[in-house]
Amino acid sequence: MPLQSKISGTGSYLPEKSLDNFKLEKMVDTTDEWITERTGIKKRHVVSKGEVTSDLCLRASRRALRSAGVKASELDMIIVTTMSGDMPMPSTASILQGKLGAKNAAAFDVNAACSGFIYGLSIADSFIRSGSSKKLLLVSGEVNSKFLNWEDRSTCVIFGDGAGAVVMQPTTGKRGVLSTRIFSNGELWDLITLPGGGSKHPPTEKSIKKKLHFVHMKGNETFRVAVKTLAKLVVDTLKADKIKASQLALLIPHQANIRIIQATAKRLGLSMDKVFVNLDKYGNTSSASIPIALDEAVRSGRVKQGDYILLEAFGSGLTWGSSLIRW
Ligand code: ACO
Repeated sequence: MPLQSKISGTGSYLPEKSLDNFKLEKMVDTTDEWITERTGIKKRHVVSKGEVTSDLCLRASRRALRSAGVKASELDMIIVTTMSGDMPMPSTASILQGKLGAKNAAAFDVNAACSGFIYGLSIADSFIRSGSSKKLLLVSGEVNSKFLNWEDRSTCVIFGDGAGAVVMQPTTGKRGVLSTRIFSNGELWDLITLPGGGSKHPPTEKSIKKKLHFVHMKGNETFRVAVKTLAKLVVDTLKADKIKASQLALLIPHQANIRIIQATAKRLGLSMDKVFVNLDKYGNTSSASIPIALDEAVRSGRVKQGDYILLEAFGSGLTWGSSLIRW
């Protein structure tokens, strides 16, 4: 029987400190009403001083390992997806490996911005299908708050910090990850950027003055492309996998904006009770949003054995992707 991958454990972690819309009203020219209506977000979590991405990943990973019944020393691979790692070098995955004591694992990072978890899942699935990995930890962790201009109301109200993790192992039969699809359109790379700190704009006094070390987003243009792209993506995914929308137990979308999520659900004819939403509590945690939502869905009993669940994401790059899973 050909090998497939399955998710054998999930975990997530949100930093303790939270920031609601009313607190933001005192920081920038915004209102709870605007944020709620335009995005659906009420609150987000942000790290405390000294807390870094690998710390969030560590807590989410420990929970996922516990739920899978796997020891860190048994892992043969660690993939971290992040656009806000501890530092450009070494990878956050290597730092996490050290903190976990996962001595037998290869470790590397993947950056596909908000689509990172789907990209990571696709890579993890390939390693497991080929027989190269047997116990793999896929973690998505983001500390977006450190890369936001807290004077820019068009970005600082949107993002939050957090981490989600899954343990993946081989299986056979018709369960597990049934498909993954990943896409990119680099012609639209400049819609969402963090321009400073790389070889194009190395950190200098000038780059800092120009605020290049913060996230910049052409929100409205991104919104329009996201709605169109995701509508096509989910329809194409179900068609290719020969699944009807009515067979889906749950859609777990990237948590960017409630209006994007509603438009995607509408395109599939899904009622919102079949769509997992937690962006009201956490905001957009970039690549961490899907594994955090998945962990909450599993732990609250919204995902049961045999259920078909569809994951989809869209983000900077532009990148997008989907995965159909039979739990
Ligand atoms: N409070 C009050 N007013 C605001 C705020 C705010 N926080 N932010 C912007 N506005 C104002 C603007 O200045 C503008 O005012 P004007 O009409 O006087 O010029 C008005 O609100 C409308 O601004 P838009 O940008 O057109 O607002 P829009 O309805 O598009 O909502 C948002 C903005 C929420 C960012 C939306 O466009 C969005 O969600 N975009 C998609 C984001 C996304 O999915 N990103 C992908 C993942 S992120 C990643 O990969 C890193």
